[in-house]
Amino acid sequence: MKSPKRYTVTAALPYANGPVHIGHLAGCYIPADTFVRFLRLTGKDVLFICGSDEHGVPITLKARNEGISPQDVVDKYHKLMGDAFRDLGISFDVYSRTSAPIHHETAQEFFLNLYNKGEFTEQSTEQYFDEQEQTFLADRYIVGTCPNCGNDNAYGDQCEKCGKSLSPSDLINPKSKLSGLAPVKKQTKHWFLALDRYQQEWINDWMLTKKDDWKSNVYGQCKSWLDQGLQPRAITRDLDWGVKVPLEGEEGKVLYVWFDAPIGYISATREWAEREGKDWKPWWQSDESNLIHFIGKDNIVFHCIIFPAILKAHGDFILPENVPANEFLNLEGDKISTSRNWAVWLHEYLQDFPGRRDELRYVLTSIAPETKDSDFSWKDYQARVNNELADILGNFVNRVMVLTHKYFEGKVPASTFQVVDEVETATSNIFSKVPELIEGYEFRQALFETLNLARSGNKYLADAQPWKLNLETQRDEVAGIIAYSIDIVSRLSVALSPFLPDTSARLRRMLNLPAQFGWNDLMVTSLPVGHQLGLPEILYKKIEDAEVEAQVAKLEASKAAHQTTETSHKPVKDAISYDDFMKMDIRVGTILEAERVPKADKLLKLLVDTGVDKRTVVSGIAEHFAPENIVGQQVSVLMNLEPRKIRGIESQGMILMAEDSDGKLKFVQPNESVNPGAEVR
Ligand code: 2FM
Ligand code: ZN
Repeated sequence: MKSPKRYTVTAALPYANGPVHIGHLAGCYIPADTFVRFLRLTGKDVLFICGSDEHGVPITLKARNEGISPQDVVDKYHKLMGDAFRDLGISFDVYSRTSAPIHHETAQEFFLNLYNKGEFTEQSTEQYFDEQEQTFLADRYIVGTCPNCGNDNAYGDQCEKCGKSLSPSDLINPKSKLSGLAPVKKQTKHWFLALDRYQQEWINDWMLTKKDDWKSNVYGQCKSWLDQGLQPRAITRDLDWGVKVPLEGEEGKVLYVWFDAPIGYISATREWAEREGKDWKPWWQSDESNLIHFIGKDNIVFHCIIFPAILKAHGDFILPENVPANEFLNLEGDKISTSRNWAVWLHEYLQDFPGRRDELRYVLTSIAPETKDSDFSWKDYQARVNNELADILGNFVNRVMVLTHKYFEGKVPASTFQVVDEVETATSNIFSKVPELIEGYEFRQALFETLNLARSGNKYLADAQPWKLNLETQRDEVAGIIAYSIDIVSRLSVALSPFLPDTSARLRRMLNLPAQFGWNDLMVTSLPVGHQLGLPEILYKKIEDAEVEAQVAKLEASKAAHQTTETSHKPVKDAISYDDFMKMDIRVGTILEAERVPKADKLLKLLVDTGVDKRTVVSGIAEHFAPENIVGQQVSVLMNLEPRKIRGIESQGMILMAEDSDGKLKFVQPNESVNPGAEVR
């Protein structure tokens, strides 16, 4: 790798439609933060960029389902994610968002730049259209039967049951998610990026230059895309949420989310530069800058092929030096899923385990899915924290601190200089190997090498057993062991800082050393004789069985809750006016009598005291309630529903019921008894 003047490091902009979970952290944000912290420690000029990805169809669908606006959805998750990253100590220089005006401006400028250069082709294609809603349907807005597995709820872009990638026309019996009606096909115009041409002109050659540098999982995926041959790709959509296509007369068209999102890195840099009074351009336009994108594996093609194509078509921008994508992290053996609520959410972890950020960083780095998918389990989390962090690192540091205070009033004692091979080897391994490992994105191994110093220190102290020596007669020996151990703690405070920033800061505080330091301090750490240490702190509390059991129980509960609600998410019905709502006359009544309707399994005939009258209502609840059990219950009655004859009985109104996800019916009733006739509003 060339030695650049500065590093522009990006971490994937997470979609603002759900909170951040441990899969995101292990795949992208923790390695990116470790990398950046290491670069800063070695004195490099780094800009670390992130923000929320706030466009795209899933956000509009979520808004629709919840009956709120897309902006409401992204406002909520932008704050939740930004706060959670900050609370974990991810050291972004800027956390921006793609609904920000500066982003819309930047993305539109990009579009226009390419448009004016004639980089796009315009093509009309047939797309599904919802005639009732008068709108084109994004792939996600179309559901139908999967031709592969028969799942009736497959989306137009993918079947979530069997995982197959689909296009809307593959679906059997496609239906619009908006109106529920079968969509029709209609012509629409879009702008396409000529990826096929770029492939021949430069992408193939450029990719070859990455063969040795890029991780094999990343290069392999790119190669297979290129081997299949790139196709022109539409970079606009018919949608009303997103960055508007900045051309006259093209209302209703927005930039495709994967066109605008990576440009979000540039917008975020501009936002940072404005705030700091700096120039954003060198970070993106100077050959002396290295651009590095941290992402998860589902983002590879966009960062390794499509975004570089956009940058190159513009012409003023550098291309990524590296894209160290990770594989996926699973949870307790199952794929992490936001929609199935199968995840450990960062904001919840931070609440449930206050003050234990480094524990999460440690475990997620130790098991990071760098070369293949890996698995997080709470048992393993507990074992790693207790057996590695607490028993090795925490125990060593605590002994050193306590002994120094006990024997030498907390001061570095004068002693004969010591050298212990194992400790020195561990230190020089860190100094020589860790930079290479981190620059090669092998954070797991780098952390392992770093912890070896704690292992060797712990072993040294346990073998030397200074507490068994006689302080009167063997003072120099004891002093030597303690002084050397203090040096090891000091080295650890430097070496651990990219991985475990809180631990590092606490070690510095305990040793009473400056909070600012550099990587080279690793090798020059003999503390002066007489240097006064701070007070011992317990670095890590053990994780108790009850704590992990509670987490597992929480996961199980969320799985169970999801399974029962999975089928019951009906889209919100069309909006009605307040007046429409007020047309309904709903009152609380008391059931006076209940009897079965002969030859009708489902029906009960009820006599209800509604306050204004006593009326008969026929209700389809016989399978859910025995007549004798419901006399005296208060219920909600829709009073002004047109009377209807059911099985020869005139039913005057309707009893309101809530249907649970398992199909069971429950009365909608006041939580305390009220007088019959009370209005429900
Ligand atoms: O996969 C995702 O979460 C995307 N929102 C990542 C976008 S990265 C970049 F292009 F903004
Ligand atoms: Zn399927």
